[in-house]
Amino acid sequence: MRKGLFITLEGVDGVGKTTQALLLKAYLEQKGHEVVHTFEPGGTALGSSIRQLLLDPSHKELSPMTEILLYAADRAQHVHETVRPALADGKTVICERFVDSSLAYQGYGLGLDLDAIRSVNHWATGGVVPDLTLYLDADPEECLARTKPDRITERALEYYARVRAGFLTIAEAEPQRFLVISAAGSREEVASRVLQAVEGVLV
Ligand code: TMP
Repeated sequence: MRKGLFITLEGVDGVGKTTQALLLKAYLEQKGHEVVHTFEPGGTALGSSIRQLLLDPSHKELSPMTEILLYAADRAQHVHETVRPALADGKTVICERFVDSSLAYQGYGLGLDLDAIRSVNHWATGGVVPDLTLYLDADPEECLARTKPDRITERALEYYARVRAGFLTIAEAEPQRFLVISAAGSREEVASRVLQAVEGVLV
């Protein structure tokens, strides 16, 4: 049974999701929410091993389908162990990345079948869908300059342009749930946009 609020943060690598997640957590706690901050891939002990497999640049042989399934496996465990129990307890869950990342990175980015990704993830999550998704939008080139190299971030800028366009396509399709927030400016400026968006769903 689902009682808590499920908020996800999305965006390309290096856009500042963790900073904004922590600021949002502090804000919601001040308002009396009990908040669980978590992330994918790697939000559970098992998931942290899956994360290593996914990001290790030496795994050149990892097929696109294996990549989708490993992200989905990480997610299945994360929903089972962390997200669903917290929501059932009435807690607010702030999660960095969820199914939208698989649609953007593996679907739009790698050109893999979107319906297959939706369906495998529907199965993996048991149909858990965020109440609100905040997509922090910025130029991937600037964001990537702030990241450490791994198996995903070593992909070309054209790949990241498709990922960003993918996120924006999801926003057009689901404007109620998936909000685009400009990541331009200081972290305080971005945080105030984030809080405004969240206030909109709290009332
Ligand atoms: P992170 O750096 O935000 O922790 O995410 C690790 C990488 O995994 C990042 O490059 C985005 C990528 N990713 C996908 O490609 N598909 C997914 O479903 C998820 C959750 C992350």
